[in-house]
Amino acid sequence: MTEDKSEKTHKIEHDRPNCIGCGACVAVAPDFWEMDDDGKAKILKGKKKPDETQEKEISDGEFKVNMEAAESCPVNVIHIKRLKDDEKLI
Ligand code: F3S
Repeated sequence: MTEDKSEKTHKIEHDRPNCIGCGACVAVAPDFWEMDDDGKAKILKGKKKPDETQEKEISDGEFKVNMEAAESCPVNVIHIKRLKDDEKLI
């Protein structure tokens, strides 16, 4: 996948410690998510934070599929924020 250089509008946050590894996010959005060796998902090219959560800024064109991934997660550990007002959408 080529990196989307367009303006970032949203931020994905993955509460990785609480991921149960069900894999739905990877099935829905394989260009953004993959299963890692520890059996949990990770955001491809996501930034890892000290608390083991992950985040990645995405463009408007990348929003929809990641929203679907977040909605597919049975334990709701994928969150998406709008950057302009920090509004949490899921
Ligand atoms: Fe984990 Fe939820 Fe994906 S449990 S593997 S983040 S769908």
